[in-house]
Amino acid sequence: MLRKLFSEQDIAKKVKDLARQIENDFANEEILFVCLLKGSFIFTSDLVRQVGNPSRIDFMRVSSYGNQMTTQGNVEIVKDLEEDIEAKNVVIVEDIIDSGLTLTRVREMLRTRNPKSLKICTLIDKRCRREVEIESDYVGFTIDDGFVVGYGIDYAEYYRNCPDICVVVEENEV
Ligand code: IMP
Ligand code: MG
Repeated sequence: MLRKLFSEQDIAKKVKDLARQIENDFANEEILFVCLLKGSFIFTSDLVRQVGNPSRIDFMRVSSYGNQMTTQGNVEIVKDLEEDIEAKNVVIVEDIIDSGLTLTRVREMLRTRNPKSLKICTLIDKRCRREVEIESDYVGFTIDDGFVVGYGIDYAEYYRNCPDICVVVEENEV
């Protein structure tokens, strides 16, 4: 069952706040937002509408897999960007940073394409679960362990359409 963690209002306020930080850092420079599919599709669409800079948006999808025992952080590009990011200000928009393995690899891959700048904006940071050191430049909410859904984030592809962010709890934890 689901327990509400952040309401639509909480999220909207946080998204505006992140947008102000991004605007401050980039003055009026152009930004290319990279939406990591699928989890950040709603976050990206709300965020970009709050940023006044000249902006472009592109989409990328990666799959990460290891095996049951170890998180290998093997990250494969399932859908690559269509834009050339060379000499562009790139902001990667992610839903959640957990172990940090996915974003570490994505950042490495995009760095080789020589962007002018490369920043990360994550809605949720599960900092205490980090297996590799990676800091997001912009962080919405920092949470402890726990599996969350809603606002684009799924459990087995469900709940992406839930407007709030909820934590999945066992019946006996309620
Ligand atoms: P990382 O490589 O361990 O940092 O994995 C991050 C990815 O795992 C995120 O982009 C999500 O797709 C997924 N993920 C991590 N935690 C959650 C969660 O609580 N709910 C849903 N997906 C999650
Ligand atoms: Mg994701």
